[in-house]
Amino acid sequence: MTRTGDPFAEGETCLLSCVKERHYLVTLDRTQTFQFDKGTLPHTDIIGQPEGATLRSSKGASLVALRPRLADYVLRMKRGAAVMYPKDAGALITWADIAPGCSVVEAGTGSGALTLALSRAVGDSGRVVSVERRDDHARHALRLIESFAGAVPENVELRVGEVEDVLLTARSDRIILDLPEPWHAVPIAAEVLPGGGGFACYLPTVPQVETVRQAIRDSRAFTGTETFEIMHRSWTIDGRSVRPDHRMVGHTGFLTVTRRRLLAV
Ligand SMILES: C[S@@+](CC[C@H](N)C(=O)[O-])C[C@H]1O[C@@H](n2cnc3c(N)ncnc32)[C@H](O)[C@@H]1O
Repeated sequence: MTRTGDPFAEGETCLLSCVKERHYLVTLDRTQTFQFDKGTLPHTDIIGQPEGATLRSSKGASLVALRPRLADYVLRMKRGAAVMYPKDAGALITWADIAPGCSVVEAGTGSGALTLALSRAVGDSGRVVSVERRDDHARHALRLIESFAGAVPENVELRVGEVEDVLLTARSDRIILDLPEPWHAVPIAAEVLPGGGGFACYLPTVPQVETVRQAIRDSRAFTGTETFEIMHRSWTIDGRSVRPDHRMVGHTGFLTVTRRRLLAV
């Protein structure tokens, strides 16, 4: 297991950070050279250096070599399907109460961004079954997960198929859906979740939220349903220029979270 600060090895993903807050993801390969507008840096200059080392490009620019945080990786990796943004994944993990030991069924795997976050949250004693209906997305997610984590984490199982089918066979106490029509899974979630279990979904548009909220209401099997969105506004802190950034990501998706209730006997 690699620890913070360890030297970089060939095959690892490295984040090169330049002074002006520009960051580049590089997979280390001793036959390759990193190139940018401020010169070049052979990968052999990075391999063997401790994490955090400051290196110089051919034109004298400073580059700090770090292991990417999951958020750095998700925002810069070559994604296939749209990813869940780190700001939303963080809130989802808190409000769907994904904790060590949880059994999560997640769909669709997409690019695997949320899968990696869920795997960390459930820890060694938990389990994430991630389902993807498209072969090409599943293959791409596998590559991205391996490239970040070295291998598919032991607590993650990747399956190709329809989430509705998997829900009937895999035990879950949290069901997390980032797919266009989560309402189809609501009746099954109502059947398979234990009392207190959580259902959450992430949707980009209001009509989709209305439809899933109606399905949740119709099932009469859930309580404490909430829908919200997360704003993340970065600030520029540069001398006397202390202000919100001019640009921000204005909209990603709405999170809806709810919990299974048991009907009165
Ligand atoms: C927006 S992407 C998910 C992104 C993922 N959460 C991430 O962070 O990388 C939606 C994925 O759901 C898949 N999908 C849609 N309906 C599905 C279903 N019923 N069962 C399984 N996968 C499904 C799509 O093929 C697509 O890859």
